[in-house]
Amino acid sequence: MTTEQAEPLWTALEGLPRPTLKELFTDTSRLANYATDLDLPGGPIRFDWSKTHLSAEVEAQLAAIAAAMDFAGRRHALIDGEKINNTEGRAAEHTAERGIGKDSSVEQAAEFHARMQMLVDAIHEGALGDVKSLIHIGIGGSALGPALAIDALTRNGAKVAVHVVSNIDGCALEAAMKACDPATTMIALASKTFTTTETITNAFSALDWLREGGVSDPYGRVIALTAAPDKAVEWGVDETRILPFSETVGGRYSLWSSIGFPVAIALGWQGFAEFLDGAAAIDRHFIDAEIGENVVVRAAFADLYYAQVRGCQTRAVFAYDERLALLPSYLQQLEMESNGKRVHADGTPLHRASAPVTWGGVGTDAQHAVFQLLHQGTHLIPVDFLAVKAQGHDLDPAHHEILLSNCFAQGAALMAGKSSEDGARAYPGDRPSATILCDELNPATLGALIAFHEHRTFVSAAMLGINPFDQFGVELGKAIAKQIESGGGEGFDPSTEALLQAAGIGG
Ligand code: F6P
Repeated sequence: MTTEQAEPLWTALEGLPRPTLKELFTDTSRLANYATDLDLPGGPIRFDWSKTHLSAEVEAQLAAIAAAMDFAGRRHALIDGEKINNTEGRAAEHTAERGIGKDSSVEQAAEFHARMQMLVDAIHEGALGDVKSLIHIGIGGSALGPALAIDALTRNGAKVAVHVVSNIDGCALEAAMKACDPATTMIALASKTFTTTETITNAFSALDWLREGGVSDPYGRVIALTAAPDKAVEWGVDETRILPFSETVGGRYSLWSSIGFPVAIALGWQGFAEFLDGAAAIDRHFIDAEIGENVVVRAAFADLYYAQVRGCQTRAVFAYDERLALLPSYLQQLEMESNGKRVHADGTPLHRASAPVTWGGVGTDAQHAVFQLLHQGTHLIPVDFLAVKAQGHDLDPAHHEILLSNCFAQGAALMAGKSSEDGARAYPGDRPSATILCDELNPATLGALIAFHEHRTFVSAAMLGINPFDQFGVELGKAIAKQIESGGGEGFDPSTEALLQAAGIGG
């Protein structure tokens, strides 16, 4: 069946009755049906989608669309390493990094991991001298994952202090340099393509800093994490210091590959292995669980329902845990770069909404900044709350009790609302939210959370018939920037011309 043939099924979905959340909760089995506890390697995680407008009818219709779009076949193709990234003619094999996929790809990933483990262990054992810090340079998928994992998992200390630098703005690299001593710092250059301007520019400046800091062989301090080892060699990195990964691992799906090197350096290999295990457990659930019991599919169903039927243009994610503060920005790349597309995989135009805008922040901070709009604004915004039962600090447990109380209070308030004679003081309610509650935040839990979101993104793409694994939309701006840098900054619109002139760039 084609996307066009699936259209009447979407129309039928739009026509289904729309009971309120309160009405849906008159079904006494609702909580049992829509809140699932998964027993995972890092401890249990609850996925509570009961405060969304999903119903048996809505799910059945979405399941019909999934069947029409051959979702099960797409999932097989993903896991079996078929070339599902059709526009670039390659597979998308991030699960192979977690031991799940085509045998040859799993073996290849294990070989690359073994090489990475040797280097990680050697650094920890002091074989490369006294290494106190690592400056990890990369951008997009080569930085957001490492930054998230390190921030989430090393609040109580790391084996080696890692500073993730992405922005071309020298302020970013300078801040990392100020925090490090060139004599005891290594540099990780993370770039799938090894051509990204920001990363290469920052890398040259980092080499200068090492040199000026008295390091006689700055290149000897560099480790390249890349799917283009030839380019890294050409650039000057010693072959023994290159940690390759497969071309079939997409940039924003690459944290599990050697792009995760800084995570392994910070946590130790065991921690990194647990991170992979947590993700693999979600892979297995995603592959094996029936549609009605599959937490990944359910989350994607809700996403699609709100974007396609209720016209929601954004979805918000609030981590009620400071350690997960970087999760929203990680998810922004994952979801928006994957599913922000205007054509189907075959190039024909998409006539439905593609990915909503993902945004969010950290609770309770966000309550005092943006929640006004969630409760009383005119937009309907489905919200995900993420929280962890075990606190991540040694202070009075009152902090954590207040944090969690606020998290649950927000979900309850959004749903219940409150009437008032005074319009300004009335809350319409019936606003949806989902809650993910983890027992503990540890490497395996984080791995599970990230894999859950990867597959959730994939399900939406499969049901819309789009290719989530390319990102041609980022190329035009890059090409124009290059044109300006090389002095070809003419022939633009008057506004751009004037800006270039005012800033004195572009020749
Ligand atoms: O410009 C977008 C992008 O290609 C992302 O998809 C990718 O994660 C990022 O740039 C960095 O690319 P690389 O790892 O090749 O440096």
